[in-house]
Amino acid sequence: MSAAFSAIEERAATVLMHTYVPQPVAMRTGKGCILTDVDGREYLDLAGGIAVNVLGHAHPAVVGTLVEQAARAIHLSNLYFSEPQLDAAEKLVATAFPSRVYFCNSGAEAIETAIKIARKWGKLQRNGASTIICARGAFHGRTMGALAATANRHYREPFEPLPRGFIHVAYDDLGAVETAVDDSTVAVLMEPIEGQSGVVPMSDETLRGLRRLCDERNLLLILDEIQSGMGRTGKWWAHQHAGIVPDVMAVAKGLGGGLPIGAVLAGPRADIFTPNDHGSTFGGGPLVTAVAAAVIEAILREGLIENAARVGERLRAGLLRLAAEGAPIAEVRGRGLMLGVVLTQPVAQQLVGTALRGGLLINATGASALRLIPPLILTEAQADEAIERLAAAFQLVEGRP
Ligand SMILES: Cc1ncc(COP(=O)(O)O)c(C=O)c1O
Repeated sequence: MSAAFSAIEERAATVLMHTYVPQPVAMRTGKGCILTDVDGREYLDLAGGIAVNVLGHAHPAVVGTLVEQAARAIHLSNLYFSEPQLDAAEKLVATAFPSRVYFCNSGAEAIETAIKIARKWGKLQRNGASTIICARGAFHGRTMGALAATANRHYREPFEPLPRGFIHVAYDDLGAVETAVDDSTVAVLMEPIEGQSGVVPMSDETLRGLRRLCDERNLLLILDEIQSGMGRTGKWWAHQHAGIVPDVMAVAKGLGGGLPIGAVLAGPRADIFTPNDHGSTFGGGPLVTAVAAAVIEAILREGLIENAARVGERLRAGLLRLAAEGAPIAEVRGRGLMLGVVLTQPVAQQLVGTALRGGLLINATGASALRLIPPLILTEAQADEAIERLAAAFQLVEGRP
């Protein structure tokens, strides 16, 4: 530990609530897929700010738009129309399905918004039905409603009682959802790929089945694309691989290229909010929406969705090669640049630490699961470099066969 890092660690222990357990490093700057710490060491970033920095760090489109828009107007409130908000909404809808947009500030807020849509819709369309069917393994955020939709009891239990009206069934199991539907059901809320529980994809067949079921039983299909969206899986939205359209979609993370923003898209069936149903002081402000519009444009201009698919395949092939060479890898799953690595031994945390010391940032979602969610600008050469550094980490970590 350098003196610079130790001083920072001590300050953090003094002034910050202990809600996070950061890696033993303090980052100072970033450029592209490289982060630099306070001691000048460089790291190849395959954690991407937890699937946020889709354009990497200090991308000129983000920096330029930020500076320009900040000089024009940072905050105006929703008392007035503003053009950046419209630009972002139009571009977002163009990537998705016919819908209208509500802007908020985070993923959890987007989920809260989707829950409120479902509850009101139940009153209008389903005799007051209010139960939302969610999935085991789901992670939807830490606010009380989003937490009620989240499955992990370690996140939930300290904060009970949570809002009622959420049930959890097996993930990627159409039959389980079918069995759970009754007159009290209003919606199905699920991630097309569960991120936090280890990058677990839902099959395209199940997604199509959920769409069919929601149509047949008059339910809303709400998809949480907060982590899987923004081109990460090789399409704008993971559900597009299945050729379906949800009624409601929650978006956040990559949308602001690093700035805090969330959004909810509601298709015609679900577009039921009227004035004062919902709102947010900061939601849809000109600074973040100008950047969101610039992020969408940059993803299109630079072909980053295709890049995510191509470089994701390269990473996957590299991981499978490591497995074939004896690394303790049981499975590689996910799509594009949203990859989960299931280990045969509970060494994920050790690997994260060892990789960090070797100049590679990765993330663990459990004792035996790694998650790779890098910027969508990652190059094939950087993917190869990441595999080399990961191979070195596997070599160093105890427990390697
Ligand atoms: C699928 C999913 N939903 C919701 C959230 C919550 O988003 P936020 O942390 O911005 O509130 C996350 C965050 O990791 C997520 O991955």
